[in-house]
Amino acid sequence: MYYTIKWNGDSVSILDQRLLPLKEEYHTYTDFQSVADSITYMETRGAPAIGITAAMGIALAAKKSQAKNSNELKTELEKVLEIFAGTRPTAVNLFWTINRMRELINGNSDMAILKEVLEKEALAIYDEDIQANRQMGKNGSRFLEDGDTVMTHCNAGALATGGYGTALGVIRAAVEEGKKIEVIACETRPYLQGARLTTWELLKDQIPVTLITDNMSGHFMKEGRINKIVVGADRVAKNGDTANKIGTYTHSVLAKEHGIPFYIAAPLSTLDPETETGNDIVIEERSIDEVAFIKGVQIAPEGVKILNPSFDVTPAGNISAIITEKGVIEHPGGKGIMEIYSK
Ligand code: MRU
Repeated sequence: MYYTIKWNGDSVSILDQRLLPLKEEYHTYTDFQSVADSITYMETRGAPAIGITAAMGIALAAKKSQAKNSNELKTELEKVLEIFAGTRPTAVNLFWTINRMRELINGNSDMAILKEVLEKEALAIYDEDIQANRQMGKNGSRFLEDGDTVMTHCNAGALATGGYGTALGVIRAAVEEGKKIEVIACETRPYLQGARLTTWELLKDQIPVTLITDNMSGHFMKEGRINKIVVGADRVAKNGDTANKIGTYTHSVLAKEHGIPFYIAAPLSTLDPETETGNDIVIEERSIDEVAFIKGVQIAPEGVKILNPSFDVTPAGNISAIITEKGVIEHPGGKGIMEIYSK
């Protein structure tokens, strides 16, 4: 059985998702900087997995520190938090983790105890994420009916989380209840998380999956071959606007046009009460090489202008419901997000 991230006590092992589906290779890191780099360079990815990886990286930095007293350790860790905060800007789970770890750093003055509580917190963040995913699955599976074909975009599965997945968790839960579900996975250009990762993990679970390119979704919606759409999220603003992988917004507009229910599955760690609307969400711009090259092969002429925003924002009005571990927000917007968040 594969895992996404593992804490080994004095190191962190990470499945290198850049190599999937062709190679299942783990890298074990004994220093926090390599863990931070594994987020920046997308060896591991997906909002909850980014948060968990950062938590383990921060715990590792504390454990390996040679600081002579707690003040020295705290100064060191503040720099470590800044390094993790600079890895990727959009997934709010990263900043939620950093805030959780910072509270412990500020609240513990004994060096040995601080190292211990940071390690425990990292493991708690990991365990809580898996539990949240299972609960989200239970809360959301009622939206999927026996015989449904469900489309998803990017990878919001076990690989993007501690395990089980958010959007794929809802699908897994429906399948575990005995419903026959077919999945359509969009390939998700440019990084191909759908083609490489979603299909890989669903095939492993023997859940029927068909791969399409992103620009085929409208055609299949029009033909009545997609009944529901479930995707994950990187940040849900206070008004319900949701950032997710680039291309999600397009699918949501098409879903609205064709009257297809469009669900977001996201844990509370992805809801951001500090961000008022989708306009306030920072969208990560990634290297243009991700668009210009596929697997090292150049596919665009040298020197052409290229854009590569990694996420887009789906307005709350296009979302039928947001499925969380604390309940479902139907027709999000208004107070719904804050009510669930305060639970
Ligand atoms: O760039 P990525 O691969 O980190 O983007 C991942 C997504 O957009 C996922 O849909 C999102 O993080 C939810 S993962 C449960």
